[in-house]
This record gives sequence, C-alpha cells and structure tokens, in this order.
Amino acid sequence: MIERGRATLAYHQASKHHLERYAPGPGHLDWANQPDPFRVYAGAPRTPLPLIVDRLDVGYGEVRAGRLPPPRPLDRPHIGALFELALGLAAWKAYGGSRWALRCNPSSGNLHPTEGYLVTPALSGLPAGVYHYVSREHLLEQRAALPQDAGFPAVLGLTSIVWREAWKYGLRAFRYCQLDTGHVIGALSFAAAALGWRVRLLDRPGEAALAAWLGVDRTTDRGDAEPELAECLLALETRAATEGPALTGLAEVLRQASWTGRANRLSREHRHWPGLDEVAQATALPDLLAEPAAVRVSVQPPRPLAHDHDLATLIRQRRSAQAYDGVTMLPAEVFLDIAARLLPGANSLPWTAWSWAPRVHLVLFVHRVEGMEPGLYLLLRDAEALPELKAALRPDWLWTKAGPAALPLYLLLPYDLRATAATLSCHQDIAADSCFAVAMLADFDGLEAAPWRYRLRHWEAGLVGQTLYLEAEAAGLRGTGIGCFFDDAVHRLLGLPTEGRWQVVYHFTVGGALEDARLTTLPPYPEEFRQRV
Ligand SMILES: Cc1cc2nc3c(=O)[nH]c(=O)nc-3n(C[C@H](O)[C@H](O)[C@H](O)COP(=O)(O)O)c2cc1C
Repeated sequence: MIERGRATLAYHQASKHHLERYAPGPGHLDWANQPDPFRVYAGAPRTPLPLIVDRLDVGYGEVRAGRLPPPRPLDRPHIGALFELALGLAAWKAYGGSRWALRCNPSSGNLHPTEGYLVTPALSGLPAGVYHYVSREHLLEQRAALPQDAGFPAVLGLTSIVWREAWKYGLRAFRYCQLDTGHVIGALSFAAAALGWRVRLLDRPGEAALAAWLGVDRTTDRGDAEPELAECLLALETRAATEGPALTGLAEVLRQASWTGRANRLSREHRHWPGLDEVAQATALPDLLAEPAAVRVSVQPPRPLAHDHDLATLIRQRRSAQAYDGVTMLPAEVFLDIAARLLPGANSLPWTAWSWAPRVHLVLFVHRVEGMEPGLYLLLRDAEALPELKAALRPDWLWTKAGPAALPLYLLLPYDLRATAATLSCHQDIAADSCFAVAMLADFDGLEAAPWRYRLRHWEAGLVGQTLYLEAEAAGLRGTGIGCFFDDAVHRLLGLPTEGRWQVVYHFTVGGALEDARLTTLPPYPEEFRQRV
C-alpha cells in the first residue's frame, strides 16, 4: 500500500503547475481528435425519459436549510428528473459555426468525463436493470437486464472517462476527473432534494467490484473505445426512513445480469499520458472505506434568503462566469452566510452525502465584500484543525477572528490581493475581478497508507465548489471553478512546504458576472421531448 501511496504523491507532484512551467500537457489542442462529448452503448435498449422538472415546486431556501419536500415516488418520471437536474443538458450555445451543449453540472473544460448509472429493481415503466444515462437525448440505455422479481435497492454509480480530460489537460486530467466527480455528487444531492430524496455515498464495494457491477470492466463490450474508471456508488434514499441498502443481495442479483450494448469510440487517436493509469490504479477504492466520521457540529441554520428561488430553475440556470465586472460588492452578511453554508452542518445539503470528517479547508481572497477588510482569510471547515493549521502556516499571520462567533473564520492578512489571486490562478483575471476567490487546502495526512484519500479530497473540494455555484446563483452572482493554479506558489504564499501534508487541490471564484453577448442560447431539448410520458 505504501508503494501505491508513494505513486499517488509522485503523481500529485508531477501534475503541479509551476509559475515557470505548466504540468505536462499536449501544448496545443488536437481538434481532429476532440472527444465526442457523449458516450452511448450501441445496441442497448433505450428508454426515453419524460421532462417533468417544470412541475416540481421546491424552494432552494428550504432545501439549504435542510428541509426536504415530501418524497416523490421512485418511478421513471422522477428518475428522469433526478438525472436531468444532475447530469442533463441545461442549454445549447452557438457561436459562429459551432454549437456545444452545457449541462446542469459544471465540468473542467466543459469536457464532462463523468458518466452516470442507475442500478434499479423493476419500477413502473423501467424493467430491473443496469442503466447508463445519455444526457444528449435524456434517456436510459439498458446495459444489463436483471431478474424482475429480485428485491434490492436502487443505487447510482459514477464513472470517469479520463481520456476526455487528458485530450486537453494531459497529466493533470486525473485531478479534474476527481473534482468533476465531486461536483456530480453535489449535483445529485441537490437534484435528489428537489424530489424529497437523499443520496449517500456508500463505503463499499471496492473499485474492482464496482467496475463489474456497472459493466465497465467488460472489455468485450468496450472494444477499442476509451475505458471508464469506476468511481463511486451512491444509495438513493427515497423514503423518509433511511434504508440501509442490502448490497450483498445486489451483488448476487448482478451476477445473473445479461449484458447488451457496445461503447462508442470518442476519438480516432489517443495520446498516451504515462502516469494516468498508474494514479488510477494507485488510488483505487478498497473493499471497505473506513474513514474517520465527522463530529457533526450544529451550525446556525442559514438566514432565509432575501428572495427564494425555485430549486430546479436555479440548478438549470447555473453557469460559470467567464469574466467578472470588477465592481460588484457583496454584502458582508451574504458572504458570511455563504461561508457558513460550506460547513457540514448536521442536516444541511449537500453534506449529508457522506459522514466523514471534513478534510478540506478554505483560504479566501476577499476582494469586494462590503464591510469586510479585503485580504487573506482562512475558513476552517472543521474547527478542530485550528492548532494544526496554525502550526503549519506562516508564523506571522494575524489569526484575527472574523464574522460570527460560531464561524471558524480568521483574518490572516489585510491586503489587496487581487493581483496575487489572479497570478496564482494561472494568471486568470476571474480570480481578481470577482468579489472573492478561494483556494481549497486539503489535508493529505495518512494518504500514503490510504491512497484512495486522494480521490476523496478532490470529491470534497468538488462538493464545496458545487455548493458555491448554487449559493452564488442564489445571491444574484455567478461562480467559476478554477482547476488551473500554480500549486506551490500558493503553498509558498501560505508558508507551507511544497511536499507537505497540506496541498491545494482546487480554486474557485464568485462575483458579478459579465455576459458574453456574442453567444446564442438554445433550449436543451427539442420541444417534442415534452410530449414524452
Ligand atoms: C473542476 C473544474 C475546473 C475548472 N477550471 C476552470 C478554469 O481554470 N478556468 C475557467 O475559466 N473555468 C474553469 N471551469 C469552468 C468550466 O469551464 C465550466 O464549468 C464549463 O465550461 C461548463 O460551463 P458551465 O459551468 O457554464 O456549465 C472549471 C470547472 C470545473 C468543474
């Protein structure tokens, strides 16, 4: 295991961007081999899903306060709504001669490496089976038929097609796949909440079994198409009482599966990136994830939003800003509310997706928050980490407590850090022209002995990012995930060693967005999809 841990840490070092040199990448985009954004399994029976999301009437304010609506029935239309709000198309954009899809979930480079699966017993209109979701046509492909009379719980599976990210980002691709997986776990949590359901990450089975359950280890069905890496399995809790999924029963049922469908090839040619297969293998999830559980703090419920938003509308309108106006000021109380929402409270979404202790803390570059000193702040997502971080970070930081007493927020340095934030984020102005930017600092403690934690830390950062996206929209602002940052330059600013326990894994920024008026926006699905029942 130590060897796998070392391989993981070596990958992390090798995939860092430096001020003087970027991580190994293709250097230019090989447009002839741009991956097809949609995976399909040719020959698998297809079940179109209806579009019913407009009929859901759930306020984001309710859900963010931990109050779910009465659970909807687990049936084909509501499964359709779950996939639409988590992984479905949100719009088509057009400019010049090109047209591209945007989805409810964000993705590094809009490359969407994450594929979604449903393993379900027979529901009305959906025979028991293993299904793959195709966002382009909003339908399920039945990859495997399962015995109709078997009793087992419905679960969701996620996989990554690493090639999609490697095409553009080279060696750093694995990190982006993991961040995107975290975003999708968050997107599924909010989508489930619109239906009165919860999703919960399962601590088993391990990666090899999961790949078999989802059929992504079936080399005969894949042929020369790009492989899918099994990531995680999520329980779908559709009734008020928590159902403990009987996974042993499910394993037995899946052994009897009969499979159909052949994966499409996404690119004609592939450039091989040594290091990507190795880190995928090194970080494979074990048969049982036994991570330390969170001590649930009861955080103050968030103040009601000034104007509540329909959750489904908010999810579908979420977009990444490509530029910020450089003038919008965020009121301090809204900023502090957003900060409080990033702490895993007892019942708050999306933190119910797992129960592990938070291991990602937030360095905040506050630029434009009315009533708050611009500067560098630290938000501890687990107050217990204070002594360790105090000992690790630069000794001359101020550590002045900021915000409400219950919020573990500290001012480290009052200063105008706009230029610094942009430089650290690969010279991207979005980190300077916003109201605030974030660097997510992950605890790599114990990673050498438990290398799968590398994935978990990125998933956690993705979950923080997904929450920030929705909070930004609810505040009338816009967020953008930032996967491009100069890792060790951030560590040097904070006074951290470059190969130490604390490693930055993701950046994010929130502010008043500038719209690109040149783009045309088209509806996500043809009108006739609305007639589906
Ligand atoms: C993990 C991750 C990393 C990202 N990195 C950047 C970045 O460095 N710079 C940027 O402008 N956008 C970045 N984005 C935003 C994506 O480009 C955006 O999500 C994608 O184009 C789809 O657009 P949408 O979010 O509006 O749906 C990132 C998004 C994610 C999820």
